[in-house]
Amino acid sequence: MKAIRIHAHGGIDQLRFEDAPDPKITSLRDVIVKLEAAALNHIDLWVRMGATGMKIPMPHILGADGAGVIVEVGNAVKSVRTGDKVCLYSFTGCGECEFCLSDRDFMCIRVRSLGERLDGTYAQYIKVLPENCFPVPSYMTFAEAAAFPLVFVTLWRMLVTNARLQANESLLIIGIGGGVASAALQVAKRIGARVIVTSGSDEKLERAKALGGEHGINHRRKNFAEEVQRLTDNRGVDVVLDSVAGEVWQKSLHSLAHGGRLVTCGATAGGEPNDDVNTMVSKELKIYGSTLGSREDFRQLLSFLDATQIHPIIDRKFPLNEARDAQERMEEARQFGKILLQISD
Ligand SMILES: NC(=O)c1ccc[n+]([C@@H]2O[C@H](COP(=O)([O-])OP(=O)(O)OC[C@H]3O[C@@H](n4cnc5c(N)ncnc54)[C@H](OP(=O)(O)O)[C@@H]3O)[C@@H](O)[C@H]2O)c1
Ligand SMILES: [Zn+2]
Repeated sequence: MKAIRIHAHGGIDQLRFEDAPDPKITSLRDVIVKLEAAALNHIDLWVRMGATGMKIPMPHILGADGAGVIVEVGNAVKSVRTGDKVCLYSFTGCGECEFCLSDRDFMCIRVRSLGERLDGTYAQYIKVLPENCFPVPSYMTFAEAAAFPLVFVTLWRMLVTNARLQANESLLIIGIGGGVASAALQVAKRIGARVIVTSGSDEKLERAKALGGEHGINHRRKNFAEEVQRLTDNRGVDVVLDSVAGEVWQKSLHSLAHGGRLVTCGATAGGEPNDDVNTMVSKELKIYGSTLGSREDFRQLLSFLDATQIHPIIDRKFPLNEARDAQERMEEARQFGKILLQISD
């Protein structure tokens, strides 16, 4: 099959479009999926650069998100069959620890994720387990079904499971162009929250407005914490979603109302930001670290998508052999929504 592989960690030139061995059924529980589309996530860049610190066998296929059709299953597989259209839940735990036994494989210290410890979705075929396969939502294309799993399950756990965003609350989303951020705007609007967004790009702020963002702040030109206080009559917002951190983290804290919650799933601009403990104490703020999501989060999300018929925002599609251009677009933060790799012709 054709795949995008890296043979060593490094820059974009490490991505090679080449022949790779077809995955084969080697256990009774294996499932082979012919992929139609894959989606990029920022984690792909960290894995390519070697920034996760994980030792992975080379050559390695990147990609955590994908959707396609099952073409072969092992003899013990009962829950899915050949011909099923599936999108992929990326995580497989050891199956034995307290986290795996309570449906939280993603917290397992031996977790293996597609595109990280396991070969990923930038390929024509992938081998997975049946519990990683979920039906493609009936109203979605394969590209949409590849675009939503990782970002939507992540933001579902952030906003719904952890921060418990309510219909009458206000939410500030930092860096709306990002995959997680733009999907969070779509979900928060359907929950009924009022949403303020920030971006480094006026064009992205306009697009966010069209999706229901009530106010947009260009964080390159304005101190967004001051602007949020102005927009909320010095009250602040109930929840901030900030996966950028770095120099914006303190402003995120200063944007919160008393009793507010800050929720984060990453640190694109730096993982050791300046905190402001006095503000955290005097305003009784709550900080939620959040990562990925459980199968139960994913099941809840699928029901929510079915009810709301949200279409994930697709920024641009590239053919598989142009993965370098696709990753470059993400590295330069030019996207609004998800960048896709189209795999089938
Ligand atoms: N733990 C998890 O479960 C999980 C899952 C998915 C993602 N993540 C993490 O979440 C973060 C976002 O992921 P993603 O895939 O959505 O990434 P992405 O699509 O590359 O989004 C990054 C966005 O962040 C904004 N940004 C970047 N640098 C900034 C800076 N210095 N100041 C202000 N804004 C900045 C930009 O928004 P504008 O273009 O609008 O300015 C950019 O588009 C990453 O750190 C990723 O590793 C974690
Ligand atoms: Zn485990």
